[in-house]
Amino acid sequence: MNAAYIKAKGLVKDYILGTTAVHALRDVSFEVQQGEILFLMGPSGSGKTTLVNILGGIDYPTSGKVSYNGEEITKLKSAALTNFRKKKLAYVFQFYSLIPTLTAIENIQLMMGLVDIRGKELKRKSEEALRAVGLEDRMNNFPSQLSGGERQRVAIARALAKDPEMIIFDEPTGQLDQEIGVKVIELIRMICKEQQKTAILVTHDQNIMHLADRVLYLHSGKIRKEVVNSKC
Ligand SMILES: Nc1ncnc2c1ncn2[C@@H]1O[C@H](COP(=O)(O)OP(=O)(O)OP(=O)(O)O)[C@@H](O)[C@H]1O
Ligand SMILES: [Mg+2]
Repeated sequence: MNAAYIKAKGLVKDYILGTTAVHALRDVSFEVQQGEILFLMGPSGSGKTTLVNILGGIDYPTSGKVSYNGEEITKLKSAALTNFRKKKLAYVFQFYSLIPTLTAIENIQLMMGLVDIRGKELKRKSEEALRAVGLEDRMNNFPSQLSGGERQRVAIARALAKDPEMIIFDEPTGQLDQEIGVKVIELIRMICKEQQKTAILVTHDQNIMHLADRVLYLHSGKIRKEVVNSKC
């Protein structure tokens, strides 16, 4: 068996609010293999967003470690962590984070500029990413001229365009109706497998479990169950 791509060990996260502490994560440990598609499920407040934010280097745990290919990111200072995140990871959030005054392709190109992709490569890669999500004929539309599912596909294209090793999806279809939501997750699975991206996806939708390689169930800040999809 290959060495794990991500190792999370003993993750604890307490949020302190005045004199009370919220125990959002209580000793969470697991590994993710390169190219794996892992779903995170669990009731509201069970710690899913807290966990993906720590895995993605947006936040630090109170204690515990996260490493990628043996490099411990929870030890990195804030600037180094931001740099790591910029190079290796991409996010797709529940609420579309497209900039309303930029077209679909400009939204993608803005993000690529942040990671220093420029010139001809910028044009080629942004068009390629829109093609991968089937939106090459909508590239000059503004977000307000796109449907909800299309906007989320632009957000996926934007995540892909920087060619990250891993993409974190935090309820990417939470705003979409169920049928479109399933289509978007099917597309995510197809692209991630094709491009060999590791993906962690938070979802509430029980009907799409077959699209995961493995599912972790969180409850009150702990992993309560793990299901490996034998069909994958
Ligand atoms: N910044 C914060 N400050 C204080 N408490 C927080 C903060 N963020 C989250 N929490 C608390 O931590 C717990 C876990 O929250 P988290 O957002 O990780 O849950 P979740 O599983 O993503 O829920 P949902 O499905 O509703 O998005 C909750 O009790 C929440 O109220
Ligand atoms: Mg959440």
